[in-house]
Amino acid sequence: MAGRQQDVQTLVQRLARRYQRSNSGLAEDLRGLLRSAPHLDAPMREHGNAAPVPLDGDSRQSLIRTDHLGPVTPPVLTRPVRAQLEQLRDEHRLQDRLREAGLTPSRAGLFVGPPGVGKTLAARWLANELKVPLLVLDLATVMSSYLGRTGSNIRKVLDYAKASPSVLLLDELDTVAKRRDDEAEVGELKRLVTVLLQEIDDWPASSLLLAATNHGDLLDPAVWRRFDVIINFPLPGPAELEEALMQYCGDENTEVIDFLVQVLAGYSFADAERFVMTAKRKAVLSGERLFDTLLASAQEHFRTMDHADRLQIALDLMQDSELSQRRVSELTGVSRDTLRRRQRDR
Ligand SMILES: Nc1ncnc2c1ncn2[C@@H]1O[C@H](COP(=O)(O)OP(=O)(O)OP(=O)(O)O)[C@@H](O)[C@H]1O
Ligand SMILES: [Mg+2]
Repeated sequence: MAGRQQDVQTLVQRLARRYQRSNSGLAEDLRGLLRSAPHLDAPMREHGNAAPVPLDGDSRQSLIRTDHLGPVTPPVLTRPVRAQLEQLRDEHRLQDRLREAGLTPSRAGLFVGPPGVGKTLAARWLANELKVPLLVLDLATVMSSYLGRTGSNIRKVLDYAKASPSVLLLDELDTVAKRRDDEAEVGELKRLVTVLLQEIDDWPASSLLLAATNHGDLLDPAVWRRFDVIINFPLPGPAELEEALMQYCGDENTEVIDFLVQVLAGYSFADAERFVMTAKRKAVLSGERLFDTLLASAQEHFRTMDHADRLQIALDLMQDSELSQRRVSELTGVSRDTLRRRQRDR
C-alpha cells in the first residue's frame, strides 16, 4: 500500500484465489482489477501497449506518468479555443478522410496561457475524446539524469508513446525551467524540446504530442515552427466564469453567481474553483446553506476592494443582472441614493 504496487497485486491475486469457491463473483471482480491495473510487465495492458514503461537508466524512476482516464468534465472554453480543440480531435478521429486528400492530421500542439485556465484539463479531455491514454512526460525525472542521458531518455519515451496510440503531454515546461536557476539546465531543457520535436517528424499519425507552457517566449522560434497548432488559452471572461461557477457550485442561484462573476473578474478558473471549494467546505462544517456561505465569502472579498471598484461592480450589476436596485444596494453596501445618482450620470 505504501507505494509497493507489486505487493498489493500479489495480495489481490491471493485473495482472488481464496474467494474462488465461496464468492466467485468477488474473485472475478478482483481478477478484473488486476487485468485493468497498470503492471510492471504490461503497464497499459488494457490499451494494448506491450512495451515496458520507460525508466531512467540511473534512478530507475518512471519517465512518464499515465493518466488512467475516467470521465472528464469538459473544460469551459471560449468559442475560438473550443473550435481549435475540436478540429484537433476531428483531425485524429477522421484521419482516413484527410489521407484520401493527401493530408495528415496535426502532430503537435502547443497550449499557451496563464496558470489555471485549463491547459492540462484540455489535454486530458482530448485524450479522453480520442479514447487513448494520456502520457505525461515527467520532465523533472528526465532532467535529473546526468546531462548525456537526456537524449536517450527522450527516445525511450517516444518509442513508448509510438508503440500504441496515445496523447503525449509535455506539461509545465516553464515550471521546470524556473525552478532551476542554472543556465545550463535551462539550455538543456531547450535542447530537450528541440530533440523531441525533431523526433516527432516520423511519428505515427495515431499519436499526438501536446506541450503546455505559461510563457511561450521561453521557446525559441525553431521550436515554435514545429508545432502545427498553437492554442492560446485566455483568462475567463464573464460568460466563461459564469458557466464555470455554475459547474462548480451545482447551484442554480443566479443572484450569487451574478455577484461572484463580478467579484471574481480577472481570476483564473482554478482560482474561482478554489474560492467555491473553500465555501463548500465551510458550509458543510457550519451547517449553513452553500448559498449563504458563498454570499458571505463574496461579500467579505468585496469589502477588501477599493471604493471605485466596488462602485463599478454595483453599477455593472444594475446593468447586467436582473437584480433590483434594492438588492444590489444590500449586496454591495452602496446606498440606493448613490446608485440612482450614478445611473443618471451615466
Ligand atoms: N476551462 C476550464 N473550465 C473549467 N474548469 C477549469 C478550466 N480551467 C481550469 N479549470 C479548473 O482548474 C483546475 C486547474 O486547471 P489546469 O490544471 O487545467 O490549469 P493549467 O492551465 O494547466 O494551469 P498551469 O499552467 O498552472 O498548469 C482544473 O482541474 C479545473 O478544475
Ligand atoms: Mg497545467
